[in-house]
Amino acid sequence: MDGKINEVRSANDIVDVISSYIPLEKKGKNFFGVCPFHDDSNPSMSVSKDKQIYKCFSCGASGNVFNFVMDYEHVDFKEALSILAKKAGITLNNVNLKSKENKYDKYYKMYEITLKLYQNNLNSNLGSSAKEYLHKRGITDELIKKFKIGLATTSKDNLTKILNSKDYTNKEIELYGLGTGTNDLYINRIMFPLFDVSNNIVGFSGRIYNTNSSSKYINTKETPIFKKGELLYNYYNAKDSVRLLKKIILVEGFMDVIRLSSIGITNAVALMGTSLTKEQINLLKRLSLNICLCLDGDNAGRKAMSVNGALLEEAGFNVTVVELTDNLDPDEYILKNGKENYITLLNNAISYSDYKINYLKEGKNLLSVEEQTTYINNVIDEISKEKDVIKQELLLNKLSKEFNLDIEILKNKLQNKEKCSKIETLNKQPIKKQKLDRYQKATYLILYTMLNSYNAVIKYEKELNFLPTRPARYLANEIIYYYKKNQNLVLADFISTLQDKEEMDTMLKEVLNYVELDEVNLDAIDEYISVIKGYNSNQAMKRLMEQLRNEPDPVKKALIAEQIKRVKIGS
Ligand code: UTP
Ligand code: MN
Repeated sequence: MDGKINEVRSANDIVDVISSYIPLEKKGKNFFGVCPFHDDSNPSMSVSKDKQIYKCFSCGASGNVFNFVMDYEHVDFKEALSILAKKAGITLNNVNLKSKENKYDKYYKMYEITLKLYQNNLNSNLGSSAKEYLHKRGITDELIKKFKIGLATTSKDNLTKILNSKDYTNKEIELYGLGTGTNDLYINRIMFPLFDVSNNIVGFSGRIYNTNSSSKYINTKETPIFKKGELLYNYYNAKDSVRLLKKIILVEGFMDVIRLSSIGITNAVALMGTSLTKEQINLLKRLSLNICLCLDGDNAGRKAMSVNGALLEEAGFNVTVVELTDNLDPDEYILKNGKENYITLLNNAISYSDYKINYLKEGKNLLSVEEQTTYINNVIDEISKEKDVIKQELLLNKLSKEFNLDIEILKNKLQNKEKCSKIETLNKQPIKKQKLDRYQKATYLILYTMLNSYNAVIKYEKELNFLPTRPARYLANEIIYYYKKNQNLVLADFISTLQDKEEMDTMLKEVLNYVELDEVNLDAIDEYISVIKGYNSNQAMKRLMEQLRNEPDPVKKALIAEQIKRVKIGS
């Protein structure tokens, strides 16, 4: 099995794989890119072609090609293996890995059972009026199937009874957002399932259709598996097409996503009526840094584009905007004006800075000098965020003509702003690395040297055979064991064997995070070993001193003092 895993790993060059997800640039021997695993816009991730591993200087993410795919795609080892095997054309029929058990599996299952029931309801004769409603809105049977739309019937406890019969208690049903404690929560609503980033069903949004109710949609409450701010509607399904088209379309509601899909636009995800969270921004970053905002054409939608656009720009996205008018959302616009017109709008999306400059005018009386001044200052603020100097110049020109102002004044103002913001970012910058003591450093260096040289392993076993912390000791033993079993050790393959050994896996990440992969002096092992020996005698000394202090008997005291002397000489 290990052989097959290593075969898949070597068949997938890490630089090729990672650069299929994020842009990498070659600098010297290594490749660099913006790390997709934390908030950043600097190239803090380095990828080593020689060693076939990656590491991020900033957040400490590291590993081989499997780790990257696991973290990026939110999949377990088994799935990452199968993705990469497929990529390399390797068949895995005799590889038998068990998927990691998830403590929430029972509740994903509960949601799957519920989804099946709702889908059946919609297809039965109980569903005819709901179907009619959907068809009237242009939601075809094909779309119903694709988005797994279902129906909660007028029954008060149909779902609860079924779930009870499958050993789910009313308490569990309530806790996970499907019941009230005695009855079903969703009654007589069209049900849109919500999936997390790994495509597990984790919630529903239920829409009224043939009644009046104060709440158009009822969404699943926050549960242990449903965190609204950590998912985006259609994220999982949009992944492939976003990567192909290198662009995300962000809309407000899931009806918009469904409508866009009906005209062949499959790279859209929806916010579901909330403002963009940090987690969502990180999720989007994993797909593409090009994003087109197409929120509703009402005041709330425009405001949301202004706010979210700024957040996305700050996070390093290339933001464009499609503005709809007459309070229309994309769904309504497409129904009213057709596919071609919407696609024209998309193709003519404007840059976020142009949008923002227009938006800043809204509700201002530009005849008043006060408001003019505020507006111009705000616009200069916006221009200072623009990265392209030519565009900056063009915008300044436009502003100077519009308000009949000397361009030099505007330029001065812009320069001052830029100075201030540079100082601000400098102040924000430093992510302080945790201070390590010399023993920790020596531990990391010993482990890394062992990973690279069998000679170091022999020395470690003979002269030390000890490291100060348990995870470090375990990792050292694991390395020794690996050498004995395989004769040699390829770091990128060794990493794969730590999949289910969390403590050692974390330790290895710490090691990789600390060392300079290509610059460790493999001959310095003696030095590192003597540091740890120093640690041992230090510890022994501390113990003896403690004993000495607590020992009332003068004869015994003298014996301890003798021991202390010996430790001192030894070190
Ligand atoms: P919208 O009111 O724009 O929904 O709210 P929509 O997509 O146009 O829906 P239809 O066309 O009337 O069916 C946008 C999003 O806000 C959330 C939903 O997720 C919706 O997709 N929302 C809206 C709620 O959660 N509750 C509500 O009562 C309304
Ligand atoms: Mn709508």
